[in-house]
Amino acid sequence: MTDQELIQRAIAARLNAYAPYSNFQVGAALLGKDGRVFTGCNVENLSYGLTICAERNAICAAVAAGVRKFAAIAIVADTREPISPCGACRQVMAEFGDFKIVCATLDETTFESTVAALLPRAKTGILDKA
Ligand code: THU
Repeated sequence: MTDQELIQRAIAARLNAYAPYSNFQVGAALLGKDGRVFTGCNVENLSYGLTICAERNAICAAVAAGVRKFAAIAIVADTREPISPCGACRQVMAEFGDFKIVCATLDETTFESTVAALLPRAKTGILDKA
């Protein structure tokens, strides 16, 4: 699966976004190392704070299907510049190791990075008592 194909899956997933409060729709497509793809969209809530981002929904869908090893995630929104995943999503991604992050606009301008680059020292020291 190419980055472009993964972006296309994220663009399709974005159409299901439930974003009545922000009117900002996001789609994500997560490629498992086994080649399977899991998608997610943002799902907002009247309480605002219970909103779940597209990235976390994709990760939860994969984990619920038994997939925990990932090669890449594509994240898409209708923005002038490629979107950046929020800090909470970076932390949740880091839980499952390092993989490629491809952020894209609808016309497929992309910014490519990795989980480790966007969240350095994500796990260093945690639960590692002296
Ligand atoms: N959002 C995502 O789903 N992913 C991101 O990477 C950034 C933000 C959602 C959360 C909220 O529903 C809306 O976009 C505005 O922040």
